[in-house]
Amino acid sequence: MSNNRQLFLTHLAPTSDAPLLLEIESAKGVELFGKDGKKWLDLISGISVSNVGHCHPDVVAAVTAQASKYMHVMVYGELVQSPQVEYAHALTTLLPESLNSCYLVNSGSEAIEGAMKLAKRYTGRHEIIAFNNAYHGSTQGALSIIGSEYFRNSYRPLLPSIKHLDYNNISALNEISTETACVIIEVIQGEAGAVFPSRGYIQAVAAACKKNGALLVIDEIQTGFMRTGNFMAFMDENIVPDILVLAKGMGGGMPIGAFIASREIMTTLASNPVLGHITTFGGHPVCCAAALAALKVVTKLDGREIERKGELFRSSLVHPEIKSISGKGLLLGVEFENEEINKKVIAECIENGVFTDWFLFAPHKMRIAPPLIIEDHQIFMACEIILKSLKKVTSDK
Ligand SMILES: Cc1ncc(COP(=O)(O)O)c(C=O)c1O
Repeated sequence: MSNNRQLFLTHLAPTSDAPLLLEIESAKGVELFGKDGKKWLDLISGISVSNVGHCHPDVVAAVTAQASKYMHVMVYGELVQSPQVEYAHALTTLLPESLNSCYLVNSGSEAIEGAMKLAKRYTGRHEIIAFNNAYHGSTQGALSIIGSEYFRNSYRPLLPSIKHLDYNNISALNEISTETACVIIEVIQGEAGAVFPSRGYIQAVAAACKKNGALLVIDEIQTGFMRTGNFMAFMDENIVPDILVLAKGMGGGMPIGAFIASREIMTTLASNPVLGHITTFGGHPVCCAAALAALKVVTKLDGREIERKGELFRSSLVHPEIKSISGKGLLLGVEFENEEINKKVIAECIENGVFTDWFLFAPHKMRIAPPLIIEDHQIFMACEIILKSLKKVTSDK
């Protein structure tokens, strides 16, 4: 075993018993480069992060320029820092008018935590409704709302007053009441395996929230920034969230997240108690500069092209062992009969130069979420390797 692998196993906290242990030397565009000339086509973008591709030159230039001006100077919310201001202005210009105030944080989980606190403060209520098979993060609050008892159970007690409903079940929406502070939902459930609800469902959720005075919190951490073909997935649904939650693809590879609401809603965090929601590094200037550069790149992408590339994956991945392909745009889940086949195919793909994985709550589905700049010839090559790997695994059965 290489020295670095050994050091990794000794000094970095484990998240599973079987880490992949691939050693990455560099990454560019859609490719990851390892030791000894190994390379992989990246079909997962660091889990929907590298939408603009790895080390996009505009992002690298923005990071370099800002790092040489200033990095951290003061906790979030006190000083006027132009990378934060310019980013918040550019982002909110692309969103519905009511989403005009950004609270910048460092990650998706943190953005979810902030959204939950904001909904409680604004409504004066404490019940939160979330959905089975939803993933919203690993911090205690986010963990309390994720939709899997397996993941929640070992960390109890968690937050009280959380209700989980079945996703895509209209009659379950009766649970939303005047006691509900907010409903937190993904427009397409990422970790459930790229699950897209029936037409009209998200609108029904929005209507139930409106009727009961509950805030609608849309988690676009995985689906935002053109991943599913529109700037935000909610924009295909004819609804406007009260709070929008972002991270992952936002920073073009740098860590940043946000929860965004109207100025009126957001202002409740500023007093009683004063400084009731604060962060040292939230909206780090280097990350904001990266986010602005990434935003300029993603907004030039053509949503129809992203959908076409998704279709190319679908039409190329035809095999009797592939039961279905779920999702939208370039957030796809390739379904196999069981987890065992999927994990063997994934291992074989990695061996053959395609980097992919499974979904947290759908281990029988392979994730396809490459950088959005992937080219057709790379899609064909990736699909050829997946099919070759599948053939090998099924002939070994
Ligand atoms: C939909 C969704 N929400 C929240 C999160 C948590 O984000 P982070 O890992 O940045 O805390 C994730 C991460 O996978 C996610 O997919």
